[in-house]
Amino acid sequence: MMRLTPSYETRDAFFSYLEELFALSSDDLFAMIKDFYWDMSGGLSGGPSSLKMLPSFVDKPKGAEEGSFLALDLGGTHFRVLAVALDGKGKATVRHSSQFKVPRKVMQGTGAALFDFLAVCIDSFLTKNRFQRNRTYDLAFTFSFPVRQTRVDSGVLIGWTKGFTATDVQGKDVVCLLNDALRRKHIDCIRVTALANDTVGTLVARSYKDPTCNLGVILGTGTNACYREKWSNIPKLKRPKHPGHMIINMEWGDFSRVRSSCYDSELDAASVNPGAMRFEKMVSGMYLGELTRRVLVDAIKRRVIFIISPDAVQRFKRKGTLKTADMSLIEGDDTADLDHIDSFLKQKGILSTFDDRTLLKRLCGFISGRAAGLGATAIAAVITWMDPDLKKVHTVGIDGALFEKYTGFSTKMRSVLDELLGGKADNISWVHSKDGSGKGAAIIAAVAAASE
Ligand code: BGC
Repeated sequence: MMRLTPSYETRDAFFSYLEELFALSSDDLFAMIKDFYWDMSGGLSGGPSSLKMLPSFVDKPKGAEEGSFLALDLGGTHFRVLAVALDGKGKATVRHSSQFKVPRKVMQGTGAALFDFLAVCIDSFLTKNRFQRNRTYDLAFTFSFPVRQTRVDSGVLIGWTKGFTATDVQGKDVVCLLNDALRRKHIDCIRVTALANDTVGTLVARSYKDPTCNLGVILGTGTNACYREKWSNIPKLKRPKHPGHMIINMEWGDFSRVRSSCYDSELDAASVNPGAMRFEKMVSGMYLGELTRRVLVDAIKRRVIFIISPDAVQRFKRKGTLKTADMSLIEGDDTADLDHIDSFLKQKGILSTFDDRTLLKRLCGFISGRAAGLGATAIAAVITWMDPDLKKVHTVGIDGALFEKYTGFSTKMRSVLDELLGGKADNISWVHSKDGSGKGAAIIAAVAAASE
């Protein structure tokens, strides 16, 4: 006969199983660093690798760039248009900015409709802020998807991520698509001078005022990083003697050499890009809530949680019913009776015991802890690739809501970094590089305009 009420043994056993499933041992982390080196090297030489290591054709700024520039930022559910002023002394100021929600049907419709949408937003920004249409404005396009560039002002989309599927964009030059859409809308006052990934913008924005910054990281809807590499270490550029440096967009969200669970595989199979971006799906804000929801539904079905709420499964049945922001609220509940979790659940129509709430909090902790651990390990890998003995001081510019807003996320990252690097971790600091992608894009536009 089926047992309706599980013993505590069952409940404990299941949660211990989950804890182990999502735990990262030191051996796992050190193995991941080695695998990162391996794939970095493969990606830089153009060999087989899960890290694309995409050249950006930009180096760090000198801090003396100046002027006014427009910047576009497309990479998630919102599209931003900004006007940024650079003072030539390391200060970038956002003068105007507008944010537009990208409707799902635009993200997943045709490429022409997506770029037309961008052009309409740009038009309304120009009108609202009284830009003169009879002069030319240099614009940088932050396009936060994997793009193969051969120059700073053009690049071909390799493949969509983060839920975008717009047709007829993959394999095309996204600057051409933007220019075509601007022309269709009779916007003639814009010259697109630079195309950049958001990580590159973040690194450039931070390094504009801080020369110790050589790594830019995004921990938000998606995740990725870029760092500064010597040309001579990028065999696929076929310029072995070039003395300079270039920023490399790693596309670490696609890193595949990492142990995953059955829940990760289910999430991946149900996504719009199965098999791709496995690391991003374990780390970033777009997926953590969904991953936790899947584990939770399994726990409810096994009757180890919310037993007093018979229809709890129904409440979490649909995708999107547990968000990463909810997990942050759950983990941040420090009240004695876990009252915030209680009201969150009650709003969903779920009655819970104190034990249920404790388990839910623990579950969120397993999954966000693994994400933070993977993020910190990836950072350790890239910094020790650049400076194996950690002799120098390194600043990491980081942006994204997961890093900025998720309760305790950066503290968890810090403790993994300490575990991996011991006292040498003191040489690494991270700063929140707010608005990095917008300001950084403007700085890249300035560098590009100056080098014409
Ligand atoms: C994209 C990257 C981007 C990252 C963060 C990923 O899905 O592939 O290009 O930098 O998200 O926005």
